Amino acid sequence: MSDQTKYEGPKRVFSGIQPSGDMHLGNYLGAIKKFVDLQEDNECLYCIVDLHAITVWQDPKLLPEQTRHIAAAYLASGVDPSKAIVYNQSAVRAHTELAWYFNCVARVGWLNRMTQFKDKAGKNSEKMSVGLYDYPVLQAADILAFKATHVPVGEDQKQHLELSRDIAAKFNHDFNVPHFFPSPEPMIKGPGARVMSLRDGTAKMSKSDPSDNSRINLTDDADKIAKKIRKAKTDAGVIPESLKELEERPEVANLVSIYAALSGMTDEQVLTQYSGQGFGVFKPALADLTVEKMSPITDLMNRYLSDPEELNRILAKAADKAAEIADPIVSDVRKIIGFCGA
Ligand code: TYM
Repeated sequence: MSDQTKYEGPKRVFSGIQPSGDMHLGNYLGAIKKFVDLQEDNECLYCIVDLHAITVWQDPKLLPEQTRHIAAAYLASGVDPSKAIVYNQSAVRAHTELAWYFNCVARVGWLNRMTQFKDKAGKNSEKMSVGLYDYPVLQAADILAFKATHVPVGEDQKQHLELSRDIAAKFNHDFNVPHFFPSPEPMIKGPGARVMSLRDGTAKMSKSDPSDNSRINLTDDADKIAKKIRKAKTDAGVIPESLKELEERPEVANLVSIYAALSGMTDEQVLTQYSGQGFGVFKPALADLTVEKMSPITDLMNRYLSDPEELNRILAKAADKAAEIADPIVSDVRKIIGFCGA
């Protein structure tokens, strides 16, 4: 594969979230919180990936509202549409076009290794849409249509990002354009990179978990947040002194990490503050902190959602800007592939 270190294009940040259900604390800590910090010094595109959402059934009547819901969550969390480009994926044709070209670059063996497809499909893989199988190729197209160099995501996206890098490298190699696409770097590190279920510290917090008590949704009010944290699975022990002691206690480790991510402390600092305390003390403190950080976002989200036309306008304007960046890149791809008339 070609040497990817010599890419000389601008630094550009791209990430996306699916409009396929309520956003939860994992999406916030693993992704959106990082988006806000990055927009200050970087050119950023934050997409609502509605094409990815339809890899499983979405009710056409609800999809526009779900899309605005993610837009509102971005804005309420501090993503500023005058700094970052916030748009929905289906409004920019470059995504689907480049995805097709990448379908002809990616190998079946690469996709067969994707654990997220296996997790989502379970024993029913034959009945899943081809789109769900192809999901990571579209994700590579999202990133590379903008020649994005940095991708803030949660830890569960690590393998998809590796595939994007492989596709970029194979395209550059096959067409002998050594530095055309960058090798996009995942930005995963941080205490919120893997937020786990409140009911099972070994499963990630997820939109698709049937138990609503397993996650804190961005739409939960203060009472609901407090109730879910009160009910969160723990054990009979107290908060330990060292990280080592947390290794066998995944549910406790998760609550400590959530506290750390929300407060801006490290896990160690949280242990120093609470070691020896029982959950009768720690859980109310975590509930208060979560409400303090999340409630203003929920309130603001509801305010944005009360003006759907304004959200539609923001998205449409940004889609034009996104297309201005992506169209010339995809046009170059057409020429590189050698299409007649390109
Ligand atoms: P989605 O909607 O499933 O997740 C959106 C973001 O939230 C992160 N995330 C988590 N982070 C920490 N703990 C959790 N429990 C947790 N659950 C979810 C995800 O890692 C992700 O960053 N495939 C992407 C969407 C996408 C994309 C892209 C991302 C499509 N194209 C291009 C980056 C670049 C996804 O996971 O969506």
